[in-house]
Amino acid sequence: MRNLVSIILAAGEGTRMKSTLPKVLHQICGQPMLVYVLNVVLRAGCRKNYLVVGHKGEKVIEAVGNFLPLRKKGIEFVKQSKSLGSGHAVLQARKNLRGYRGHVLVVYGDLPLLTGRTLHRLIQTHYKQANSLTILSAILQDASGYGRIIENGDGTGIRIVEEKDATPNDRRINRVNAGVYCFRGEDLFKAIDKIRPDNMKREYYLTDAVHILGDMGKKVGIVITKDSSEVEGVNNRKQLVNVQKYVNMKNLERLLLTGVTIVDPSSTFIDSTVKIGRDTIIYSGSTILGKTRIGRDCKLGPFAFIQDCQIQNWVEVRASFIYGAKIADRAKVGPFSHIRPGTFVGQEARIGNFCEVKKSRIGQGTKVSHLSYIGDAFLGKGINIGAGTITCNFDGVRKNITRIGDNTFVGSDAKFIAPVKIGKGAVIGAGSTITEDVPAGKLAIARARQVIKDRKKKKR
Ligand code: UD1
Ligand code: CA
Repeated sequence: MRNLVSIILAAGEGTRMKSTLPKVLHQICGQPMLVYVLNVVLRAGCRKNYLVVGHKGEKVIEAVGNFLPLRKKGIEFVKQSKSLGSGHAVLQARKNLRGYRGHVLVVYGDLPLLTGRTLHRLIQTHYKQANSLTILSAILQDASGYGRIIENGDGTGIRIVEEKDATPNDRRINRVNAGVYCFRGEDLFKAIDKIRPDNMKREYYLTDAVHILGDMGKKVGIVITKDSSEVEGVNNRKQLVNVQKYVNMKNLERLLLTGVTIVDPSSTFIDSTVKIGRDTIIYSGSTILGKTRIGRDCKLGPFAFIQDCQIQNWVEVRASFIYGAKIADRAKVGPFSHIRPGTFVGQEARIGNFCEVKKSRIGQGTKVSHLSYIGDAFLGKGINIGAGTITCNFDGVRKNITRIGDNTFVGSDAKFIAPVKIGKGAVIGAGSTITEDVPAGKLAIARARQVIKDRKKKKR
């Protein structure tokens, strides 16, 4: 194995995003775009990966740390205090590479569609051709915005011209610079030292290293991607949404090929971080996000929104919103339910129409079928909660807990003024407002007794 390290550029401001969030942290299907780039670069097996950060660098470091084990993956941060251009960004890693004799991969942090296969091909070509520099290129239908690769026809005199500095003739060229390079380490900094900010943007362009090395008599090679969509650089939100659509479709294809049915891919959104088991069916209009894990043989949707949930097997979720919850085997949710974080729905339990459940435990086989609010509650097994039941958990200051024992029957429209505890096998009369604990096996009715009165005859 040869010596290889990487430098990943993520210090730019990303002004074209018009955002307070650094560009490389904008999310694509649940992950910052930079994490896609890092994952691909990490697979190339570099012994060290230097991530150049600048604009809101602390935020970038924190976000990357949330997705990747930095130390284990050999990721180190290098600071670029001022965004003076891609060449200047690479220069910041010079100290880290003093005396280093291997090869250096340079990858821009805004290329989320780059694949490991293409990167591998670039590196192998670089070694095989014994180049001083090998650049990744693509042939694009619409090359606007990209740097164009120009040469003398015989493969000599390769240089890159940025769109802003290009002549109308240069602009007709559709062979673009992707923003991925493999350098021989000793040549990299020799070339960078010679870069001058003599361009429209007054920046130190890394791309100038290409003709500088050529002028020094060094060998420069070009690798062209097989799939040109891989080089899509994200500079604005229009490109972001295009890339997101592409990544979403790739995620759906991966799931389809591993045995998940997706009824209508055009209306389904699934994050790259989601895992789903075989024979699960996802109906139209569904969105599944974050660290969600779904088992097999589930039926989700139409219109299920599921984020950061653990859903076991044979679960059904119809037209509902579920966040940060765990749903056990054979449970059913919806239609039109809202399940909030910290909720556990036990096996074969049921949360029906227009119910909200928050930070509660719903025991095995328990049914909360219609129009209820269950918050900060522990419900045992085999309970029937009647329509319109409410746990009154908030006293204006504190959230209080409701406990209901196994096999209790709760009549419709009951209110539990928490904190309150109901023993096992109790019966709560419909319309009761329960303010005191109810012992196991007892019947509690807490409502005004009905009265029947004569009606006064109206005189006309
Ligand atoms: C760059 C290339 C262009 C190429 C295109 C591919 C240069 C001069 N131009 O243009 O030839 O076709 O990418 O997508 O390189 N960055 C820093 N520090 C800086 C400036 C940039 O870290 O001072 C980082 C950015 O965070 C970004 C990357 O470098 O990840 C590329 O910068 P960007 O401004 O997006 O370059 P482009 O104009 O797209
Ligand atoms: Ca870019």
